[in-house]
Amino acid sequence: MKLVGPARSFPRRTVKGVDGYAVGNNGSAEQDHYFAVGRRCRHLGADLANGAIAKDGCLVCPWHGAKYDVSSGRMVRGPQGVFAKIPGLGALFKGISAVVPLGRAKVVKQGDDLYLDR
Ligand code: FES
Repeated sequence: MKLVGPARSFPRRTVKGVDGYAVGNNGSAEQDHYFAVGRRCRHLGADLANGAIAKDGCLVCPWHGAKYDVSSGRMVRGPQGVFAKIPGLGALFKGISAVVPLGRAKVVKQGDDLYLDR
């Protein structure tokens, strides 16, 4: 397992890059929930470690706002802005991510630290 860092450096609704993963915490007020998904957006390759976590817990791409379910690695909302106006584009990328979802790794908390378990 690889040390990620202290859990306190991942407060809720934060995401950071750790090697090839976007590691974050999309937990609720009651409980932290850590995740790790591949960093490259399936649309045009933006670094998802620079994304944001929406209120519904999805990871939002920093470039065009595609949303990912971090538990499955699948895109659940296609690219926004001008890309949302292209018929079928969102469905195409959602379909691609259903076949080739973002890679995922387990994030394990041991003591006060987080580890990536690949
Ligand atoms: S690069 Fe992620 S939505 Fe376009």
